[in-house]
Amino acid sequence: MFDAIRPILFSIDPEIAHDLSLSILPACAFAATPYKTLALAMASDFDESQLIRLKTRALGGILDNPLVLAAGLDKNGLHTAHWHALGFGSVEIGSVTARPSNGNPRPRLFRLPRDQAAINRMGLNGQGAAAVSQRLIRQRQNQDLGVHYGINIARSNRSFATVDQEIEDVVEAFASFAGVSAAYYALNISCPNTHDGLKFEIDKTDSTLSALAPVRQTLQKPLYIKISNDAATDFVDDLLVLLDRHEVTGLIVGNTSTRRNNGERPLETSPARIAEIGAGGLSGRPLFGRMMALLSHLDARKPSQLQLIACGGIDSADRVLQALLAGADATQLYTAMAYKGPLLPVDISADLLQRLRRAGLSIQEIQANRHTASLRRSLGLGEP
Ligand SMILES: Cc1cc2nc3c(=O)[nH]c(=O)nc-3n(C[C@H](O)[C@H](O)[C@H](O)COP(=O)(O)O)c2cc1C
Repeated sequence: MFDAIRPILFSIDPEIAHDLSLSILPACAFAATPYKTLALAMASDFDESQLIRLKTRALGGILDNPLVLAAGLDKNGLHTAHWHALGFGSVEIGSVTARPSNGNPRPRLFRLPRDQAAINRMGLNGQGAAAVSQRLIRQRQNQDLGVHYGINIARSNRSFATVDQEIEDVVEAFASFAGVSAAYYALNISCPNTHDGLKFEIDKTDSTLSALAPVRQTLQKPLYIKISNDAATDFVDDLLVLLDRHEVTGLIVGNTSTRRNNGERPLETSPARIAEIGAGGLSGRPLFGRMMALLSHLDARKPSQLQLIACGGIDSADRVLQALLAGADATQLYTAMAYKGPLLPVDISADLLQRLRRAGLSIQEIQANRHTASLRRSLGLGEP
């Protein structure tokens, strides 16, 4: 059905299409519920106990499946329950910043259909931490909240006189969420679209984590750090030392890319169109190879308890399984929702469940045995 609607959505400005899609999300979630029930029932051969195969331990809880909505699509926590109804195992709200912000001037979101990708320079637009936190508390009181969600927090997109003020801004945003029932928090140190294009380097990340210690004591929830999919291996190696010292739970790998290629290959979109779009972060299918390389690098070096959440070009059960076999604890996706539509999470879960049943395994078992040579074949995956 989405194939019929997509040309209409793609004929309008991407941000208007995005807002329109969000406004009809409650109706989509309602309509998707019978589809979800039927698709999962068929994938489990009408044996509900099979759904346990999809359970995934990550992000401060046990998720129904390893698919999480990545940050950026529900920046203000408007639709937490609806994402669950659409089949996500969890939702990452945000990025939320201490102060409300309109973000960068429009146009700031662009489709690259030939690459199934997007470029955005939204610039951390959002209602601000106080408004989002109050909404989440209200939703819980109305029992209108999906069961599992996290909050992604970033530095406000404005200039600061000193680094201390910048760090204070992040701490203030975290502190606004005391009393909110988030399962985890993510610190976004990799937004490529702030006014100064500044990402957090090692020293600033270290100081921010030190300053966050008291508020983390209050929140008592796992903390993840979201790095860029462009992160250099030297940077992540230094970061690993820090994470251990500050007892960070895991890394989300990762954010959009300022590069304009698909691994070794150029993008399918014409160079003229890419130049016309200008600055911003690339997301979608072209990120997958880079994300997998970074994941493998981290997997070989990280302490065993550090979790890795794969994010970048995830759009199928095949890619979810590849990420899990490369060491991911769970996966996140965003851009694929624009290309494949709202039924994508259910379609991926149903495909995963069929493969797991055929192999007689669960997600947790494939994670525990991921170095077993025959696993790829039994899950229907080709050679890497
Ligand atoms: C329009 C748009 C807005 C985004 N906003 C945020 C954000 O506010 N915070 C964040 O951490 N990531 C943000 N992201 C990045 C995504 O969470 C994700 O890391 C990235 O898109 C790669 O995943 P994908 O290939 O599945 O889209 C945004 C992505 C897009 C396309």
